[in-house]
Amino acid sequence: MDDKKLIEEAICAKENAYVPYSRFRVGAALLAKSGRIYRGCNIENAAFTPTNCAERTAFFKAVSEGEKEFLAIVVNGDADDYLFPCGVCRQVMAEFCNQEEFRIITAKSTEDYRVFTLKELLPGAFNAEELAKGQRD
Ligand code: THU
Repeated sequence: MDDKKLIEEAICAKENAYVPYSRFRVGAALLAKSGRIYRGCNIENAAFTPTNCAERTAFFKAVSEGEKEFLAIVVNGDADDYLFPCGVCRQVMAEFCNQEEFRIITAKSTEDYRVFTLKELLPGAFNAEELAKGQRD
């Protein structure tokens, strides 16, 4: 899968952002190992806390469709600068993605983007392995 195609998908996903409070649209496109792409947008709420980021929308759509393995995600927001996933979204990525392999692409456009691994953006992630270390019978 071409990175530029995935970036185009994230830019399209932004169109459906529901952002009456922040007016800050974000789009994401998540590439599963199956080859399928899942789009996501941010969905806000008058109570604020239930707001869902674009990245998590994409992940929850994909996982609810049976996907559990992923290769990359593109994030594109209404900002002049690169937009990085929030800490909560990084933690959701850590649940399903390989730290060294999963690529996070923050894109201003199809021509201007930066690529990171999950490990670079969430070193020392808390995961199932860490949880098991603390479990008692
Ligand atoms: N937001 C995302 O969707 N993804 C990010 O990576 C950062 C923030 C959303 C949440 C909220 O709707 C708006 O951007 C402002 O925080």
